[in-house]
Amino acid sequence: MNNLSSQPIGVFDSGVGGLTVANGIRQLLPNENLIYFGDTAHLPYGDKSKETIMAYSARITQYLLEQQCKVIVVACNTASANAYDAIKAEAGDKALVLDVISPVVEYVVSNPNYKRIGVIGTKGTVNSGTYVGKIIARNPHLTVTSLATPMLVPMIEEGFIFDDISNAIIRSYLSKPEFSQIDALILGCTHYPIIKNQINKFFNFKVDVIDSSRIVANQLRSLLEANNLLNSTPGPVHKFYVSDFTDSFQVISRLFFEESIQLEKINLWK
Ligand code: DGL
Repeated sequence: MNNLSSQPIGVFDSGVGGLTVANGIRQLLPNENLIYFGDTAHLPYGDKSKETIMAYSARITQYLLEQQCKVIVVACNTASANAYDAIKAEAGDKALVLDVISPVVEYVVSNPNYKRIGVIGTKGTVNSGTYVGKIIARNPHLTVTSLATPMLVPMIEEGFIFDDISNAIIRSYLSKPEFSQIDALILGCTHYPIIKNQINKFFNFKVDVIDSSRIVANQLRSLLEANNLLNSTPGPVHKFYVSDFTDSFQVISRLFFEESIQLEKINLWK
């Protein structure tokens, strides 16, 4: 076995939403050590410029490399869409890098039943054109419609889930005519798995609603296997850091990770 295998997996996001991805990873890969970093001091990334997202992502990557991470999972769609190349350049040959968009693109293009695909995400993700560009590059015969749905993140963070307000917002976004014929809808934001059931209900369960956490965790397992980096030693250590600590981040982290965890504040921008 490779002695690098016990080194942690670094997972980062603009905040605590990426814990949905970290949760998928710990469920599929229970022996892996994890270091999670949520850049809560700078969120939301969804409204920031590409340059700013690249600069924040590069700094976080440096930190995760200092922590000897064997792989860095970019558990933020906005950072994956705008800063993937910058993160890869920063990591060089020191760590593998996995974004949350490429595995989902491979998943949808490999399903022959999907002809029309919808994508929802932050403004930063949708305006980057990354999902549409990657899907069309793999299969130009697919029709892809994307829509920025910026009210969903604050809605979820404020606890409006499965109620009249969230139903009205979801209906208003997803009733767009472009979405009336889709076969699959990609949840292109770390927060959206929390409202997956509600979206399924909106579409009367006739559209496949695709949540990336399981797909990304599967891709991560393949990547670790291919590089002989799977950790087989039980008793993993999971650490959770944020750049700004508030009680509300602590409270909502439970919603995303499905287990209570302790967030610790760390300042990377001294
Ligand atoms: N984590 C971000 C994403 O997945 C959503 C929150 C934000 O805008 O920072 O795109």
